[in-house]
Amino acid sequence: MTRKIGTEEAIKRWNRFADAYAANHTELGDIHKEVFLNPAIFSLIDTVKNKRVLDAGCGEGYFSRLLAKAGAAVTAVDYSPRMIDIAKERTPDDLPIEYRHGNCEDLNMLEDKSFDLIISNMVMQDLADYEKAFQEMHRLLTDRGCFIFSILHPCFITPESGWEKSKDGKKLHWNVDQYFYEGTYEQKLGERENMLFFHRTLTSYMNTLMKTGFMLEGIIEPKPSEEMLKKYPSFEEDFRCPDFIVFKLKKR
Ligand SMILES: C[S@@+](CC[C@H](N)C(=O)[O-])C[C@H]1O[C@@H](n2cnc3c(N)ncnc32)[C@H](O)[C@@H]1O
Repeated sequence: MTRKIGTEEAIKRWNRFADAYAANHTELGDIHKEVFLNPAIFSLIDTVKNKRVLDAGCGEGYFSRLLAKAGAAVTAVDYSPRMIDIAKERTPDDLPIEYRHGNCEDLNMLEDKSFDLIISNMVMQDLADYEKAFQEMHRLLTDRGCFIFSILHPCFITPESGWEKSKDGKKLHWNVDQYFYEGTYEQKLGERENMLFFHRTLTSYMNTLMKTGFMLEGIIEPKPSEEMLKKYPSFEEDFRCPDFIVFKLKKR
């Protein structure tokens, strides 16, 4: 674990990992997004029809396309140029999505109060300066606009967490350690890439959001639905503890 690595290094790694990451995504995202995150995020949205929506950290763009298909005018930003290229390749010309290269910690190319809704799906744990990113989301929202974001659940996915298994491989319980460490840790994603994650406590997230000027409107620790369990029975174990948390905030 090291506290010193910043967003620039994290993005280099996302850029190298972009093709492998995208290969794992259909038009519903990857399997975790299909089972947990898409239903949770959409349950927190009233309607996106005719709304101006920012997808902050859009990756290969599947969520931007879902939003645009539901009637939103979407601006999608990612700091990895390769992710933006893939997102553009995957987007039919008739979908109203404008892809921009940009860092969520400083989106000065976008005007104040230009979005009714901001979605950021699994990004805030990937950038170093979450205070700045939250300030940018606040600046970009219209008055009373909403910011919905998902992250790895910081109480359960920590720099040292994982299943305690019996000798025969049975999952006994989920271990959590180093919860109060705040900083970078590495985790292998895919075959080769060691990705960087930035851990913060739930207290830090909540206090920073309130200090930035957000009010909490909703919170979900997603569990698999009956329908999803039928499709993917192995997610039964996700009734034991959550991997993700989703917040809905309103600009004060
Ligand atoms: C886990 S992926 C999620 C992508 C997409 N939201 C999705 O749900 O498929 C994280 C994405 O955030 C992007 N990212 C990380 N830090 C960023 C930053 N500071 N500004 C903009 N994008 C960033 C990465 O390039 C990557 O595409």
